[in-house]
Amino acid sequence: DEDASLRPQSLKEYIGQTQLKENLSIFIEAAKQRNEALDHVLLYGPPGLGKTTLSYILANEMGGNIKTTSGPSIEKSGDLAAILSTLEAGDVLFIDEIHRLPKQVEEILYPAMEDYCIDIVVGKDSASVRSIRLDLPPFTLVGATTRAGDLTAPLRDRFGIVSQLEFYTLEELMQILRRTARVMDTDIDEEAVLEIARRSRGTPRIANRLFRRVRDFAQVMNDGYISLEIAAMALDKLKVDHLGLDAVDHKYLKGIIERFKGGPVGLDALASSIGEETMTLEDVYEPYLLQIGFINRTPRGRVVTEKAYQHLGYDLREGLFVLE
Ligand code: ADE
Repeated sequence: DEDASLRPQSLKEYIGQTQLKENLSIFIEAAKQRNEALDHVLLYGPPGLGKTTLSYILANEMGGNIKTTSGPSIEKSGDLAAILSTLEAGDVLFIDEIHRLPKQVEEILYPAMEDYCIDIVVGKDSASVRSIRLDLPPFTLVGATTRAGDLTAPLRDRFGIVSQLEFYTLEELMQILRRTARVMDTDIDEEAVLEIARRSRGTPRIANRLFRRVRDFAQVMNDGYISLEIAAMALDKLKVDHLGLDAVDHKYLKGIIERFKGGPVGLDALASSIGEETMTLEDVYEPYLLQIGFINRTPRGRVVTEKAYQHLGYDLREGLFVLE
């Protein structure tokens, strides 16, 4: 994928998620000393914060290979058994969107995780049908999901390490952008680094995506040099506002303000009113809007905060919201 060339190979190179990194490095060291596979790891949090990147690093640090797949792409238990049977000792099996595994497939995972074995049913009729136990080498399952709450309890309970990824600070995003500029051999002004970081919604994947587009503008219009002016101009053309909010964020906030009087409104009602998927809003857009205090979730639905009204240029007078 597009981020593969930018991916750090070791925990040492990985920027941000400091607490998680410190813990993981201890668990890795301990597992290596005991000559065991690392315990299974569940990573959860909004998209783009580095769950896939971390799983590659875990495989590297443990000296194993990685096999990657995703919940929705494993339809039958045989599909999962086929992948499991290719694993070698110390390998990482990465399952993205693990909350979307079909139930029967999930049940194969339980003994695989707990006892490193799977039971395969063979035979065509009731007379010959039987199950064969297949031993697996010690391996590490790394599961990724946007919300840990969506996992079934039996699956969640089988992960020894459960970690939430956090949004990145401005300084961390700036470090990532400087590294990206170095890897891509691009000259960039420090003020441009800050400007791109500010508009990246705390998310490295977005920072790197914006960097590539800004670099295009710089290449065609500024001899490849990313100045603050070029960065700001490019980001405006990409319709990314000063806080990194895009067209969908604006539609979301204006939708609540103008069609639902600022809320509370149920997410399904809002989603259908602005023509977006409920799941996309919840997993991709809401986490950052919550983080920056632009919305609140209440038992009766979503509400927009005063901060959001101000950012969008609404004038707050006598309880009336007028777009100036
Ligand atoms: N590229 C994307 N995410 C990164 C991170 N967390 N550290 C270093 N480089 C990255």
